[in-house]
Amino acid sequence: MSNTVTRPATGPFPEGFLWGGATAANQVEGAYAEGGKGLSIQDVMPHGITTPPTEGPTPDNLKQIAVDSYHRYVEDIALFAEMGFKVYRFSIAWSRIFPRGDETEPNEEGLAYYDRVLDELEKHGIEPLVTISHYETPLHLARQYGGWTNRELIGFYERYARVLFERFGSRVKHWLTFNEINSVIHEPFMSGGIPTPREDLTDSDLYQAIHHELVASARVTRLAREIMPEAKVGCMILALPVYPLTPAPADVVKAMDTAHASYAFGDIHCRGEYPGYLLRFFRDNGIELEITDQDREDLRNTVDFVSFSYYMSICETADPDHQVQGPGNIMGGVPNPTLEASEWGWQIDPQGLRVVLNDYWERWQKPLFIVENGLGAKDRLVEVDGVKTVEDDYRIRYLNDHLVQVREAIADGAQVLGYTTWGCIDIVSASTAQLSKRYGFIYVDRNDDGSGTLERYRKKSFGWYRDVIAANGANLA
Ligand code: BG6
Repeated sequence: MSNTVTRPATGPFPEGFLWGGATAANQVEGAYAEGGKGLSIQDVMPHGITTPPTEGPTPDNLKQIAVDSYHRYVEDIALFAEMGFKVYRFSIAWSRIFPRGDETEPNEEGLAYYDRVLDELEKHGIEPLVTISHYETPLHLARQYGGWTNRELIGFYERYARVLFERFGSRVKHWLTFNEINSVIHEPFMSGGIPTPREDLTDSDLYQAIHHELVASARVTRLAREIMPEAKVGCMILALPVYPLTPAPADVVKAMDTAHASYAFGDIHCRGEYPGYLLRFFRDNGIELEITDQDREDLRNTVDFVSFSYYMSICETADPDHQVQGPGNIMGGVPNPTLEASEWGWQIDPQGLRVVLNDYWERWQKPLFIVENGLGAKDRLVEVDGVKTVEDDYRIRYLNDHLVQVREAIADGAQVLGYTTWGCIDIVSASTAQLSKRYGFIYVDRNDDGSGTLERYRKKSFGWYRDVIAANGANLA
């Protein structure tokens, strides 16, 4: 900034800012074999991404019950309403609607369940934000078709989305096509339903799988416009700002290359074509994709808004002796020596969120939605004045500091639609499948060994977030 320009003082959050929380079906619902639901890839991932998938479901999989929201959604949504949520992001479990994924007719019981969830949200004036596919590919599509490496999945996904749009289109305004689309490269089974072990997959396989998801995303974006002209469709990206470890130009270029790996999918979603740097990466690495003329035309159906998750930033360096990977971070990256980390080794960087918001806004000029952010931590249930709670000041600090940066980015000019904290109620974590990695404002009495009553308790952060929403962020410190 030049000396003559003063940055405006940070103002309040915009009128109508969508405050809320987010979850995914497989991490909260449980009832893994009820209501006609088929198996999803999550039903064979009892330990998240830390061990290879099992043959079939095993009782040590906490997601079989998760936090039982399938049966307790009325109570849960009432608690969200008590905090004043304006929006609730949740995913629809694909295998509840199409149990195997390749049927021609949907499972009515599955649709009826989400009708009831939407009724409940409507009752409390909470707007739904629906993720169509959140790490929950039907297992049959993974095992019989090879997951998203197979072009046929585009048609299955389109049929599934059409059913959702026709059934829920009058009630759901905001839709997200694929959760964290860029993670397919790193977690092919969880993110792309690809059963082949990562080491046996070529880069061509992985980029072809993402290509199929991108085409599917674009096609359903077009379909959404036909069926629900008022609706808004967004992409969802795992945001990861990349800093050079040193000012050495080689480090800056390395950081740029790594950042491109995430930008690429936002660029395609927002601009409707492959960026030059990605085509170069394909050429340099002998990656050949099957991209038809029809695909190219389909990709032109670009998204209305960009949503993303944000948990951490990383560093990069060109120094071959310094290629240490940070723990717990599925995307890799060199740890930043200036930052502290969570108990799971995820480095905490509130200012990185401002960087992402500015960056994405300037790059794409599309409204932004932060649909995941939060601190996974070990909580201790205590009794205060005879009431069970968790004194989670560390979570309040984390969320406060990130929200202050959102406010800064809005003052910088970024258009931000809303903010949903991840795991607004405790959930089973995705990477490690633990309940002890808690993100919520609401504590759920269930432990890693499966014990617990499933009772819900308000944490200290519950009251804090209620006050933040009530003040539209004016009380952030
Ligand atoms: C995101 C996913 O990657 O991170 C969520 O969209 C996940 O599903 C969240 O839960 C946090 O990761 P974890 O492993 O702590 O649950």
